[in-house]
Amino acid sequence: MYTGDMRILVIGSGGREHAMAWKFAQSEKVERVFIAPGNGGTAEEKHCENVDLLGRDPADPEIQDALIRYAVKEGIDLSVVGPEAPLAAGIADRFRAAGLAVLGPGAEAARLEASKDYAKSFMKKYGVRTPQALSFTRTGDALEALRTHFKTGGAAQEGPPPLVIKADGLAGGKGVVIAGDIKTAKKTVTAFMEEGLLGAAGKTILLEEFFRGPEISVLGVVSAGPGKKARILPFVSARDHKRRFDNDEGPNTGGMGAIAPVPDFTGTLQRDFEESILAPTLAGIEAEGFDYRGFIFFGLLIHDKRCYLLEYNVRLGDPETQAVLPLLDSDFAVLCAAAEGGTLQDQRPAWKPGAVCAPVAVASGYPGPYRTGDAIALNEAALAKTGAVLFAAGAVRSPGGPAGSGLRTAGGRVLTVAAHGSNGAEARERAYRALGAVSFAGMAYRKDIGAYS
Ligand code: GLY
Repeated sequence: MYTGDMRILVIGSGGREHAMAWKFAQSEKVERVFIAPGNGGTAEEKHCENVDLLGRDPADPEIQDALIRYAVKEGIDLSVVGPEAPLAAGIADRFRAAGLAVLGPGAEAARLEASKDYAKSFMKKYGVRTPQALSFTRTGDALEALRTHFKTGGAAQEGPPPLVIKADGLAGGKGVVIAGDIKTAKKTVTAFMEEGLLGAAGKTILLEEFFRGPEISVLGVVSAGPGKKARILPFVSARDHKRRFDNDEGPNTGGMGAIAPVPDFTGTLQRDFEESILAPTLAGIEAEGFDYRGFIFFGLLIHDKRCYLLEYNVRLGDPETQAVLPLLDSDFAVLCAAAEGGTLQDQRPAWKPGAVCAPVAVASGYPGPYRTGDAIALNEAALAKTGAVLFAAGAVRSPGGPAGSGLRTAGGRVLTVAAHGSNGAEARERAYRALGAVSFAGMAYRKDIGAYS
């Protein structure tokens, strides 16, 4: 039970965690939000404070033990895990074993993200609509399958369709390659399976059929446990923009900006998602008896007016969260506590009308090698006029720095601005005006976030 003096611990350091902490801090139930390790933005957020992890990784069991000691000492009522790696490493199981309330699936359910092979067999077992795929643990077998595909696939005049090559394990966004020809496909398979490009994550791969179509992210909150009825409350839809450059060109990134909601995710498509993806997922989570109290992320592709599930993530998306949470018109802390406590059926979250556009500002060179340590200048009055919120990511506090935001760049994706508008166009206009209030040496961003939606 929560008393109205809720103390929340958010684990992670990105823009997603800043957005979560910002939203938690608005709750009347919340006394203080701790972010471990947090970033330069969360350090200054009202009612928030960073917890120093000495720069170490929450996927490390020693750090997880330190976090448990911290949560006990500080009387934390609810811990919320942002990224996937600590979840795959069992952080939620450890917290629960220590008698602490935590929002995040146990390691068993976290395989839905940590193993693409496991996720695909789960989808097949429970009838979740997804592209066909085969799994390989031997390079020779995978190369043989490539030769067969590129020799025979597709209509003669078009040539064989591309193949999607997916590393089984967590690869920080680098584990999926769309190969249009056998040379690229062979090079990728060899790099993943033989040359250890992704370490253990690439030792097993999937070869998946390729569908062309727009992608949509549906985030949500899950409450399931052995012997209990499983529930998922989906949030408003969102769209990430993964390629580095305008018009969806250039290399893949961790996300260059998001919008919410997605205007083409209409009633019919939404119903198709609910029937063909959400309902069988829920049935599967229940049948497997997972202790899954946490977030879920459905990575959808729309093809031929039908939803296909490309992937599950067992966390909220980044930068989707920065676009979705500003639209939430209900208490996020209450919603999360209900998911953790098994009372999600009583929650009816409300959403603000309108839309949010949230472009990401990155350091020059990203997603390749980039510079860090540049002072971030901020015109707070100009930002305030747009009504946008700034969520920091790869940015640290720099008290001795020049006048401005007091922040310096410390990562590739530096910050997100999230602007609300009565429609997508207004949100977009405000978001780009907000970005105009920020500057740092080499600052770069896409100019077309939400332009085609
Ligand atoms: N925006 C994609 C992700 O969070 O993985």
